[in-house]
Amino acid sequence: MSVDQRIEQLRSTLSLEVGRLTSYDDVEALRVRFLGKKGLLAELMVFLKESGPEQRPLMGEKINSFKQEVTGHLDRLSSSWKAKERSSLLEKEAVDPTLPGRQSYLGRAHPIQSMLQTVLDILISMGFSIQLGPDVDTDYYNFEGLNFSPDHPARDMQDTFYLNQGFLLRTHTSNTQVHVLKSHAPPVRVVAPGRCFRNEDISSRSHVFFHQVEGFYVDHKVSFADLLGTMDYFLKRLLGSETKTRFRPSYFPFVEPGLEVDVMCRACHEKGCRLCKQTGWLEILGAGMIHPSVLLAAKIDPEAYTGYAWGLGIERLTLLEHGIPDIRMLTENDLRFLSQFP
Ligand code: PHE
Repeated sequence: MSVDQRIEQLRSTLSLEVGRLTSYDDVEALRVRFLGKKGLLAELMVFLKESGPEQRPLMGEKINSFKQEVTGHLDRLSSSWKAKERSSLLEKEAVDPTLPGRQSYLGRAHPIQSMLQTVLDILISMGFSIQLGPDVDTDYYNFEGLNFSPDHPARDMQDTFYLNQGFLLRTHTSNTQVHVLKSHAPPVRVVAPGRCFRNEDISSRSHVFFHQVEGFYVDHKVSFADLLGTMDYFLKRLLGSETKTRFRPSYFPFVEPGLEVDVMCRACHEKGCRLCKQTGWLEILGAGMIHPSVLLAAKIDPEAYTGYAWGLGIERLTLLEHGIPDIRMLTENDLRFLSQFP
């Protein structure tokens, strides 16, 4: 076979292979097969070796020009395949600006937290400062230091979750009174927000887990009138001056005298509903003048100092504010419910 015939053969093999290319990598593999060290074109050198000196230059020229032809062809193919692959990658990664945007959900405050914040903002503006007491506490701080004797029937008022080693879950934020009064000399004017726990039957009005805001003020000559004035002012700012409130005498071992405050039920506009037990009123706080025994236990002289205290239920207020008929909704974590509060 002459060198011309072999070149013609290789040319048609090449055009056949080019028709089968599917990627840039295929082009490079073809390049190795034709132009590599042991490639098809290298084999043409056999013709050179076997030829006589007169034919050799012409033959060399033929082989060289074929080599250039193949190189040029493969170069064009490889750059066009490279471009093709790059643009399909861009296509794959491209952003389609006509697609609807992905929705991102913004978090928001739980209605309990919003109510807590509203209450605290008002009380801070009235000169109270915040102190936190522990959720897990001892009998002493939750009961004994608050004038509950060990067999005091009032302990039955509050069904308690007892933990081991003498600890319990506090049943009210009043434990903070004992902590603060023992460690701070009067005057003290403190609000103590926090979680409370009671081993009670769960119903639409009460839960085993709830929040209170305790407030207390101890100084020389703090009077019952100060307490009533403070509660009246606070509740008007919180609920608006048109909201009716009702002060009733009541009993707590750590105050004397004691009282409870009811607010007219907004859920039913005083007509009576499940939330207000058909009375039209909802009890939202207990209060009173701090009992001399509580001051004495904290080593404060009850002859020199007097004080008032209150404990406010945050869940009840939240139910009232939004007309929510059942306290359990607040802890179900149902987004359909929670997303209704801006
Ligand atoms: N600790 C009482 C309760 O949880 C409320 C209260 C606080 C009453 C302070 C009087 C004074 O019911």
